[in-house]
Amino acid sequence: MTAPDSFLPVPALVRSVTRETQDTFTLEVCPEHQSSFDAFEPGQFSMLYVFGVAELPISISGDPAKRNTLTYTVRGVGQATNALVNSGRNDWIGVRGPFGRGWPMKQAEGKDVLVVAGGIGLAPLRPAIYHMLAHRELYGRITVLYGARSPRDLLFRKELQRWRKSPQTQVLTTVDYGGVSYRGHVGVVTTLFRRLRLDPAKTVALACGPEIMLRYVTMDLEARGLTQDDIYISMERNMKCGTGLCGHCQFASAFVCKDGPVFPFRSVAQWIHKYEV
Ligand SMILES: Cc1cc2nc3c(=O)[nH]c(=O)nc-3n(C[C@H](O)[C@H](O)[C@H](O)COP(=O)(O)OP(=O)(O)OC[C@H]3O[C@@H](n4cnc5c(N)ncnc54)[C@H](O)[C@@H]3O)c2cc1C
Ligand code: FES
Repeated sequence: MTAPDSFLPVPALVRSVTRETQDTFTLEVCPEHQSSFDAFEPGQFSMLYVFGVAELPISISGDPAKRNTLTYTVRGVGQATNALVNSGRNDWIGVRGPFGRGWPMKQAEGKDVLVVAGGIGLAPLRPAIYHMLAHRELYGRITVLYGARSPRDLLFRKELQRWRKSPQTQVLTTVDYGGVSYRGHVGVVTTLFRRLRLDPAKTVALACGPEIMLRYVTMDLEARGLTQDDIYISMERNMKCGTGLCGHCQFASAFVCKDGPVFPFRSVAQWIHKYEV
């Protein structure tokens, strides 16, 4: 049963707004009442209310071990997201949540973990990476494959460098268009798969990005021997309530806000290749 106050946004003070790329910003906010925000699972999201504009779902992109502050990384694509990224330090927004089911951090213990992200999709995966690096002994080899439109669109560049230096951790990036002077890998994220050392029997894959990317990533992972139970994807749909009541986020028989946003691929496999479900 959903607590009645889960519909009431808690005022939260914007502590900082940091530019990540041309259109993407990270906001750190401090909710007025801490208790309901004491903990979140990697992969969960909040409903953020930009007063007088709109309310929208945004994944928590910060470190789950860090208390008192909630971090969101937002790409300005329309009215609500642009209002959010144009917030200034000491502005107030409203926060509800955290909502939804996150990444399977417990089930992934003892296994190799393959993280596949496209564009802003790295933001919902970042808390999972923080968690695994903080509990390094619980996980096997960690591989992060990350694709963006261009070199300027790669998020969290300093962190990608830092993660590369962690033991048994591989981080590979790619861009769709590199330009003449770019020396890195060019191609969609699945072109990085051929550079992988993958043991399908002991690997769990976590993927987040545009739905077209997820279709190809899941297809390639299955071709490489991962079972549908070992692949988890994060889905996006329009949302209103965030708590499984309004039906806006319905995806086949599931509600993305409460049954997801992270789904075991097995539970959505028959729907993901059908457009407009
Ligand atoms: C569970 C969940 C977690 C999310 N986490 C994040 C997050 O961490 N960071 C983030 O920036 N966004 C995230 N989103 C997406 C975000 O909620 C939407 O981008 C936002 O609601 C769009 O509202 P808008 O008014 O700014 O744009 P709209 O006016 O609704 O849309 C403007 C244009 O952008 C397009 N558009 C809308 N959403 C997207 C999208 N997701 N990707 C690409 N194009 C889009 C629309 O088709 C339209 O053409 C998440 C969504 C869900 C469901
Ligand atoms: S947003 Fe209302 S049911 Fe999911």
